Amino acid sequence: MSEKEPIGVIGVGWVGLVTASCLAELGHEVWARDILADKVESLSRGEVPIHEPGLPELVAKNSARLHFTTDMAPVLEHARLLFVCVDTPPTYSGDADLSRVEAVIAELGDSDEHALVMKSTVPVGTGRSIQRRRDGLGYVSNPEFLQEGSAVPDFMKPDRVVIGADNRSGRFADRMEALYEPLDAPIVRTDVASAEMIKLASNAFLATKISFINEIANVSEELGADVSEVARGMGLDDRIGPRFLRAGVGFGGSCFPKDVQALKQLAGNTGYHFQLLTAVVEVNELQKRRTIGKLQKHLGSLVGKEIALLGVAFKPNTDDIREATSLVLSGRLAGEGANVRVYDPVAATRADEMLAGARISDSALEAVDGADAAVLVTEWPEFADLDWAEVREKMRVPLIVDGRNFLDRQALIEAGFTYEGIGR
Ligand code: UDX
Repeated sequence: MSEKEPIGVIGVGWVGLVTASCLAELGHEVWARDILADKVESLSRGEVPIHEPGLPELVAKNSARLHFTTDMAPVLEHARLLFVCVDTPPTYSGDADLSRVEAVIAELGDSDEHALVMKSTVPVGTGRSIQRRRDGLGYVSNPEFLQEGSAVPDFMKPDRVVIGADNRSGRFADRMEALYEPLDAPIVRTDVASAEMIKLASNAFLATKISFINEIANVSEELGADVSEVARGMGLDDRIGPRFLRAGVGFGGSCFPKDVQALKQLAGNTGYHFQLLTAVVEVNELQKRRTIGKLQKHLGSLVGKEIALLGVAFKPNTDDIREATSLVLSGRLAGEGANVRVYDPVAATRADEMLAGARISDSALEAVDGADAAVLVTEWPEFADLDWAEVREKMRVPLIVDGRNFLDRQALIEAGFTYEGIGR
């Protein structure tokens, strides 16, 4: 056995694959198990099924240390620390669906040599409840804070690593610390429930920051201030910080909407009404829809109007469309009677069935051809480099709604566009 601890990863989705390949990069042998045979086969051939910068290279470079399997036996045989990276999607009630976590636990024996390392986001209290039932197993909460599009550097250079364990699992937590030592990041050792809460509270706080600046944007629009300037001036205050103060058409993705909802629900289950988070969600939903009003302001009724949506992914550099604003907008626009065309460099075909009958274009120029308005939904870098004179020529009405305050407003106005940003 090499001196580096062998690792098990259970669930090879986005979090699992990033975790597995980064740990392999740090020199660990990794046994990564997924129940989907097709996925395991293609990963074993070196094919990476998700769009994440740097990940295919990492998988290729460390292929000798990465063992993909559908079988739990080799994972349990070789590894003692079992990183659980399965999905915990919200149910209709708003609680997290833990059935995949439970399925994993059901497959494990009661060997006191193994520990579950919970990477999946779970409700506060999950660790305690699992340990009550399975007191033979070790248990460590080790939440992930990876952002899509920068997951590999986020893993390798984290702001902090959170390791939550109770006394009984202290020895496993020590091994986890050793594992993360090469990353040279601050390590926060806590009890399990606090570690679970750190994850939910961090995401809820960031979502709150976004809804806050979006409301400042909406008020700025009315009062003649420019939210970009306001955010710049606020962000230089060390106590506030400049990040997550970009106003726009609302936050999406697989984490923020889900985690805000989960925390709100958890509070509610204890009889506490988390008022602030209720508002954060509501502001975000309204923000997604406000764009319709901006279009109506210039075009009147949207019946029969041709509207181009630039960007489908919930943010740039990912093909993830979960909770993406584009999905809400295409549905609302169709509801208003508009004809919608969408373009995204990577995510459009993925979203096809969810785009309420929108036509998928092969390029931004094709999407804007003959359009009455274009709405920038996702700030893909290529949109900044569009030939706007050409866009102007192609559009029927030169109206741009810049949903991320991403484009050069002055240049667009000079090129003859009517420009609407968010909060400016
Ligand atoms: C987020 C957290 O950042 C990460 O720590 C956690 O593990 C998972 O959730 P991610 O979902 O990849 O990561 O996206 P992030 O870059 O945080 O953006 C989330 C959403 O907020 C996007 O829709 C983005 O467009 C929006 N956003 C972000 C804003 O509207 N304004 C901002 O200033 C920042």
